[in-house]
Amino acid sequence: MAAAIIDGNAIAKQIRDEIKAKLDACGSKPGLAVIQVGENPASTRYVSHKQKDCKEVGIYSEKHHLPETVSEKELIELIQKLNAQANIHGILVQLPLPDGIDEHKVINSVDPRKDVDGFHTQNLGELVSGNEHLVPCTPTGVIRLIESTGIEIKGKKAVVVGRSVIVGKPAALLLLNRHATVTVCHSRTPDLGAETRQADILVAAVGKPRLITGAMVKPGAVVIDVGINVIDGKMIGDVDFESVEKVAGHLTPVPGGVGPMTRAFLLRNTLKAAGV
Ligand SMILES: NC(=O)c1ccc[n+]([C@@H]2O[C@H](COP(=O)([O-])OP(=O)(O)OC[C@H]3O[C@@H](n4cnc5c(N)ncnc54)[C@H](OP(=O)(O)O)[C@@H]3O)[C@@H](O)[C@H]2O)c1
Repeated sequence: MAAAIIDGNAIAKQIRDEIKAKLDACGSKPGLAVIQVGENPASTRYVSHKQKDCKEVGIYSEKHHLPETVSEKELIELIQKLNAQANIHGILVQLPLPDGIDEHKVINSVDPRKDVDGFHTQNLGELVSGNEHLVPCTPTGVIRLIESTGIEIKGKKAVVVGRSVIVGKPAALLLLNRHATVTVCHSRTPDLGAETRQADILVAAVGKPRLITGAMVKPGAVVIDVGINVIDGKMIGDVDFESVEKVAGHLTPVPGGVGPMTRAFLLRNTLKAAGV
């Protein structure tokens, strides 16, 4: 039987509707500042989506677009100004930053209470400690998509492919915090298929088109495809949808799976940062 397709667009809309209703009821207006450096077209698209989402739910947003040539010092000065600005509750620095700017230093100059991306060392440390407050948006979305299937995470064998700080590692920690037994795979894992075939829950966050095939998936598994790869202008995931659909129990599409959830959880984190 073909896998049930998890509808990320519908779940994200539900989250946005809940946020809008909450803000309408309490009358508060959280503020989000988005900083973009340079002209990366994907970044421009992501930033405009984030602003559109904010408008839809009633979050104030402002965009700070800095030239590619901006210095690290000038960027950090802007962040410090926003850290002190009372109407701004969340600050997001759109990544990647141009070469020569230290991303780690820039991210850690955001006030951790305004770190709506959840990438600040303090917030990642809280996640390691099991305190989930401002947690990275994509892995939070991954968990919500798994929960939407009704399948319990506790006691399951979860395999995360990818160990980046923004997706793979926090996804593994969130699964671990929910009592899954977690394996994290990466580019030096010798036999990836042998690991993924063990997974009741499989999360692919690699950036390699169609890396995960049906032969690598345990029958009935929940498969979450985080990957975004653009080939001939078409967006495809890290999962070979056609072959995996025949084996998995639940599967996210690309687009329309994890992507909309990332956007929705940025709004949720902005509310959290504003104490709403
Ligand atoms: N849907 C969304 O909202 C969203 C959000 C963020 C990212 N993404 C997408 O998710 C993907 C991953 O993003 P990322 O930022 O985590 O990427 P990343 O920083 O490039 O990390 C990729 C990870 O995959 C591992 N890897 C590479 N080749 C592999 C292979 N053949 N077998 C097993 N593991 C392999 C790497 O291992 P090493 O550590 O050993 O190098 C690394 O840990 C990308 O396609 C990105 O566009 C989507």
